[in-house]
Amino acid sequence: MMIVAQITDTHIRPPGSLAYGRVDTGAFLAQAIAHINALDPAPDVVILTGDVADTGAVEEYDHVVKLLAPLKAPLLALPGNHDRRETFRAAFAGRMELPSGNAHLSYAVERYPLRLVMIDDTVPGKPHGEVTAGHVDWLENTLASEPEKPTLVAMHHPPFLTGIGHMDVQNCRGAEALAEVLSTHPQVLALACGHVHRNILTRFAGKPASICPSQAHAVSLALGPGAPSSFHMDPPSLHLHVWQDDGSRFGSLLIHQSFIGDIDGPHPFFIE
Ligand SMILES: [Fe+2]
Repeated sequence: MMIVAQITDTHIRPPGSLAYGRVDTGAFLAQAIAHINALDPAPDVVILTGDVADTGAVEEYDHVVKLLAPLKAPLLALPGNHDRRETFRAAFAGRMELPSGNAHLSYAVERYPLRLVMIDDTVPGKPHGEVTAGHVDWLENTLASEPEKPTLVAMHHPPFLTGIGHMDVQNCRGAEALAEVLSTHPQVLALACGHVHRNILTRFAGKPASICPSQAHAVSLALGPGAPSSFHMDPPSLHLHVWQDDGSRFGSLLIHQSFIGDIDGPHPFFIE
């Protein structure tokens, strides 16, 4: 078994500063890390799928590095539209290996039974994401190099519509080309995204695709093109991607949603 805990869109600001004048995102991240550290069994790795900082300022990354220090599991992070690639790279240089030469910070992680392919789809200065011809080439070569290894692909922006209009206008462009690559690689078991701060499940390129819920503020569940841009403080949670060797060619992969906070339980079903 391999467990990948996914957190996302932490939107960390400098200490003492609230996101949107209201959300203490640092406290929510600290709570999420304590939750992950207490999981039994512990996750093999934690992926953080972008919007790590809120504005990309250096002080925000200094804060996030301090907040992440107690995390016991190895961390793999991707930038989102609120991040800045170079400050992001500098902040995580001591904690994880990131590619140095790429225009985009995409990379593959080979050391686990479930291979992790992390796509940086951010477009500097823009809220939307994009899979360019360069991403497609990199992804095709990366996937073609390990055709028999079960693989989870992660990226910040979803390449599919959610029905939440103000988020859909800033999703990942180039979805057709991305789908073409993913659909030709049967070892890709699923696609995991962030950006929308909600628990959303669908199918993309014929594979299960998900958006990880928020560990802090959720985008309001307001469907329709004209729905206002707002957030709700839904109960925080995260995704656990659980891969198991079930004897099949690529094994099985599924998602559990793990709620964070003071939750009543466990209570035994049978009392003697
Ligand atoms: Fe985002």
